[in-house]
Amino acid sequence: MKTLIIYASHAGYTRECAEKIASYLVKEATILDIENMAADFNVEPYAKIIIGSYVHAGRIASKIKRFLKKYQPLISQKKIAFFLSCLSKDNFGKYLRQNIPTPLLNQALSKTHVGAAVYYEKLNPLERFMLKKITGRNQSFSVPENDNIRRFAEEIANL
Ligand SMILES: Cc1cc2nc3c(=O)[nH]c(=O)nc-3n(C[C@H](O)[C@H](O)[C@H](O)COP(=O)(O)O)c2cc1C
Repeated sequence: MKTLIIYASHAGYTRECAEKIASYLVKEATILDIENMAADFNVEPYAKIIIGSYVHAGRIASKIKRFLKKYQPLISQKKIAFFLSCLSKDNFGKYLRQNIPTPLLNQALSKTHVGAAVYYEKLNPLERFMLKKITGRNQSFSVPENDNIRRFAEEIANL
């Protein structure tokens, strides 16, 4: 059974999580940055599709949203799971509901919050300014949810 992990990462943390999830899976998974996805990408060979995104201002990456819309009829026949990288643990459920079509969310066999990282050197000046204000922190930092990541990967492996 082939597994696809498709993700969007603005500053790199969601990519790290996609790679970590893949490393926990016993069978090899294809990892695809949505930025590199061909317009005619074929999801047909994959039985499991894991979708991950960062959250900016309450929204997941627009390319992931478009992917879900375009591929919904195909994805709805697959085993799917979602992970989100965001600072707010409390809003994780809300972000899922506000960004992912309800039928896909209901169909998902697993959903997890993978934690977050703020890599200031990867942000533009406005983003840097905003995040420093919101977090009160001047240095890059990460708040990984390693247990969630491991549990999520185990669940996917057992699907
Ligand atoms: C411009 C900007 C807006 C953000 N907005 C939110 C938000 O609304 N809620 C939240 O929980 N985290 C928010 N975050 C935190 C990111 O989701 C978090 O840092 C994430 O791990 C980034 O993933 P990436 O390194 O793959 O881009 C924001 C980060 C940035 C840079």
